[in-house]
Amino acid sequence: MKNTILSAKGLCKSFAHNGGQIHILSHVDMELYEGDFTVIMGASGSGKSTLLYALSGMDRATAGQVLYGGEDLVQTNEKGLAALRHTDFGFIFQQMHLVSNLSLFENIAVPGYLNKDKSAQKVKERTEKLLEQMGISHIKNHLPSQVSGGEQQRCAIARAVINEPKLLFADEPTGALNRKNTTEVLNLLTELNGSGQSILMVTHDMRAALRATRILYIADGKIIGELTLPPYTPDEEKSRETQVSAWLNSMEW
Ligand SMILES: Nc1ncnc2c1ncn2[C@@H]1O[C@H](COP(=O)(O)OP(=O)(O)O)[C@@H](O)[C@H]1O
Ligand SMILES: [Mg+2]
Repeated sequence: MKNTILSAKGLCKSFAHNGGQIHILSHVDMELYEGDFTVIMGASGSGKSTLLYALSGMDRATAGQVLYGGEDLVQTNEKGLAALRHTDFGFIFQQMHLVSNLSLFENIAVPGYLNKDKSAQKVKERTEKLLEQMGISHIKNHLPSQVSGGEQQRCAIARAVINEPKLLFADEPTGALNRKNTTEVLNLLTELNGSGQSILMVTHDMRAALRATRILYIADGKIIGELTLPPYTPDEEKSRETQVSAWLNSMEW
């Protein structure tokens, strides 16, 4: 029996458009479970990013509830949401958004230094460990502009987990990467999940979706399907691809 980490109830999101409203999310009900690598798939423009922003408190839903740790994030004020994004959630995006005049080391460590619960020494040690795990120790003093896109994304992953988030959100984290870097980034996310990190990733990349232990499919503003899978192993990639591909076809992907 898995523990629920976050849940949405009747979640709606609309945008003002041409004097009217367009409804992107309409009464979404869903739960995220601790330890899962949950992936949300759906066509481009189906509302995947909108859902991720609403669930993570980056944006506010129009109606409904997002329940996390006994709190409804739809009702939480901006200050509360900012604190939560800092302490409990980690974020990775398609664009890495690293600070251009800070080294890779500093980019990772800075959110750690802002965390009052950890000493500077502890943050430094964890940063070194993450640099090692992400395979970027040798370039830790480089600026983001001096390293490849794949290395920047690995740095962004380290930064996202420096404060040991309860939930890691990723929006198309491989969207700007070539094939080799995509594989590396997916391997790192799989590894993090293997050591217990709960992840919610949205993607329209089938290869990324193969890493999931649970895939949700969004269409017409709702979650219309769910597939659960055992943890990913590379030797089963082919059969997993066949299974996921058949399921996606049944969702009319
Ligand atoms: N701030 C906004 N204002 C108006 N429309 C928006 C806004 N953000 C997203 N949309 C629209 O909502 C739909 C879903 O967007 P998005 O969640 O980014 O889709 P996905 O991530 O699945 O590609 C799109 O049609 C998009 O144009
Ligand atoms: Mg998107």
